[in-house]
Amino acid sequence: MDRYITLIDKLKKERALSAKEWAVLIKNRSPKLSEYLFSLAREEQERCYGKDIFLRGLIEFSNYCKNDCLYCGIRRSNRAARRYRLDEDTILSCCHEGYGLGFRTFVLQSGEDAAFTEARLANLVRRIRKDFPDCAITLSAGEWSKASYRTFFDAGANRYLLRHETRNDSHYSMLHPPSLSAKKRRQCLWNLKDIGYQVGTGFMIGTPYQTPELLAEDMIFLKELNPQMVGIGPFIPHRDTPFKNEPAGTLELTLFLLGCIRLMLPKVLLPATTALGTIHPEGRELGILAGANVVMPNLSPKSVRGDYLLYDNKICTGEESAQCRDCLEKRINAIGYRTVTARGDSLNL
Ligand code: SAM
Ligand code: FES
Repeated sequence: MDRYITLIDKLKKERALSAKEWAVLIKNRSPKLSEYLFSLAREEQERCYGKDIFLRGLIEFSNYCKNDCLYCGIRRSNRAARRYRLDEDTILSCCHEGYGLGFRTFVLQSGEDAAFTEARLANLVRRIRKDFPDCAITLSAGEWSKASYRTFFDAGANRYLLRHETRNDSHYSMLHPPSLSAKKRRQCLWNLKDIGYQVGTGFMIGTPYQTPELLAEDMIFLKELNPQMVGIGPFIPHRDTPFKNEPAGTLELTLFLLGCIRLMLPKVLLPATTALGTIHPEGRELGILAGANVVMPNLSPKSVRGDYLLYDNKICTGEESAQCRDCLEKRINAIGYRTVTARGDSLNL
């Protein structure tokens, strides 16, 4: 136990561990060790961001996807998915509703939908930028060429979320079809950084074939990329995917890694994800108490909420945007934190 406490102290002091140390720490974690880790993570979080938890309004604007990731409920081969695509006016009205609720960051997420061409997506960003000059616009719409990413940036997008999913090339190929590669995914992230986006990356916890050694590679990659945001959440099986019988990732390991990321990158923005809230009723609160400082209530129209299903039993699919916001605010206040709707740019710039 003392040996592992020393590793956590080292992580706090040096903000880094070797791959071997990461694997040892992850393998030998225990409730006692987690308790110690979380207390340090909360200290760092408070030092950097006080008791503020940032709210981002999430708009899931299309669930069409040309990709076929094996874990994902909206993968191309899932014929059972009910597909939808919001038009520009509807997306704008979600932003207006969100603005009225206090949101100053909009996160636009979708599958890789060929109907949203570069020109169309850039035009949408331009319209949102025109109506909301004081807001941050975050895109999460998959892989594009560097030139396209630049077009979106010039149109007014500030941030981009693209999880690397797993740093290891062969693990990546066990989770994705041959048309996708880990190398290309990482190149997209470097391109986004180079253009000047605030970048978010991340991975799922508990994907099939994942090991502590593979997670160690993910942690080293996070350190190397040094993103502004890191989104991690448990893998949860979806009934209409090849991974339907695989076990979900655990709350315990997700919390442990949230704490580790807060110590490694103290200023990073770290969401307590909807997936975390799905595997445990207090998952998001526990995530905050382990070092997370962002939550993303849903602003998508209620009529399509139940169709953006990446995994089974997703929470918050039946609520109105205002209900979702209020519910999260209450939950956050109850554990002694306060919600902030301001833009909340990362301090890790
Ligand atoms: N198409 C964009 C992309 O590829 O980045 C954005 C949408 S994609 C569905 C968003 C994220 O959902 C993925 O990066 C993945 O980590 C996560 N995700 C997909 N299927 C999941 C599952 N079954 N359980 C948990 N998270 C999942
Ligand atoms: Fe959506 Fe609670 S966060 S209903």
